[in-house]
Order: sequence, then C-alpha cells, then structure tokens
Amino acid sequence: MLKIVVIYDSKYGNTKQVGEEIIAGIKDTMGTQAKMSKVRQINFDDIIAADAIFIGSPNHFGKATRSIKKCIDELGKINLNRIPVVVFDTYIGGDFEKTVKKMEKQLIEKVPALKVITPGLSIKVKGVRGPIPEEELSKCRQFGVKLAKPLKE
Ligand SMILES: Cc1cc2nc3c(=O)[nH]c(=O)nc-3n(C[C@H](O)[C@H](O)[C@H](O)COP(=O)(O)O)c2cc1C
Repeated sequence: MLKIVVIYDSKYGNTKQVGEEIIAGIKDTMGTQAKMSKVRQINFDDIIAADAIFIGSPNHFGKATRSIKKCIDELGKINLNRIPVVVFDTYIGGDFEKTVKKMEKQLIEKVPALKVITPGLSIKVKGVRGPIPEEELSKCRQFGVKLAKPLKE
C-alpha cells in the first residue's frame, strides 16, 4: 500500500480539493493510503515514513504561499529517503503553471532527496474563492490516474 502525504496550503479550500481529487484518481488504480496535511500542521514523522510527497499551493502574487516556501526549505533540512514528489497549484488569471514551476525549482535546489517525477498540475479556479469548474476537476482526477505508473516505479 503506497503511503502518500499531501502537504497543502489553502485559504478557501480549492487547493485542498485539487489534492483530494488527485488522490481519488490514484485510488482508482492502486491501493493508496493518503494523509491530507495542512502546511502549518505537518508531522515530520509522517513525512519520513511516506513513499511519496505531494505539495499544493494557491498562486499568491505569482508564487507559492510563504508557508509553502518555508515548508520546502524545512524539508531540505531533514533526512529524507529519496522518494517522489509531485506539486500542484491553483490560480485565477493568466498564471498557468507559474507557481508549480517555481516550486519545482525550489525543490530541485533545496531538497535533492525529493525527486520531481512529473511536471506539476496547474488548475484554474473561477474566482479568488473558487469554485473549480467541472472540466478542471476532471483534469485533477486524470492526473492522479496517470500518476499510478510512475509512482509504482
Ligand atoms: C493574496 C492573494 C494573491 C493572489 N495572487 C494571484 C496571482 O498573482 N495570480 C493568480 O492567478 N491568482 C492569484 N490569486 C488567486 C488564487 O490563486 C486563488 O484564490 C486560489 O487558487 C484559491 O485557492 P485556495 O482556495 O486553496 O486558497 C491570489 C489570491 C490571493 C488570496
């Protein structure tokens, strides 16, 4: 059973929902035990025991939230096994993939133990508070389904 910890920041719940939909997609294809973990309440023992880590942030001013950036820096300071990492973001404007790209760059620079196994998922919400349109939600689920294979490797 694959153990995944999903670390997320989410003011209005949209980014959390993206994480849950991705996990639902993975669960469609393989046995998975997932824990949703708010960025300010992460448990490092869970992270050390995980087989994969997912990190999601809303786009705030073109980048990840301060808490997410701080968390990635902290992951770089603990002794982790080399495991996969997957990132995702939510945004409203023309900032497609802007935040995930920055998160990936920070991970590569600061947390070499975590291996970015796929380009991050960037999901457009309808307004600052959401909601997430149906077609974007189905992208999350599909993304999860497609992740099952690289996660097994
Ligand atoms: C302080 C703040 C700054 C934001 N800046 C941007 C931005 O620069 N570009 C963008 O596309 N969306 C921006 N947004 C919209 C957020 O990305 C959107 O509200 C977010 O996806 C909601 O996610 P959540 O429900 O998980 O908090 C901003 C939202 C907030 C609250």
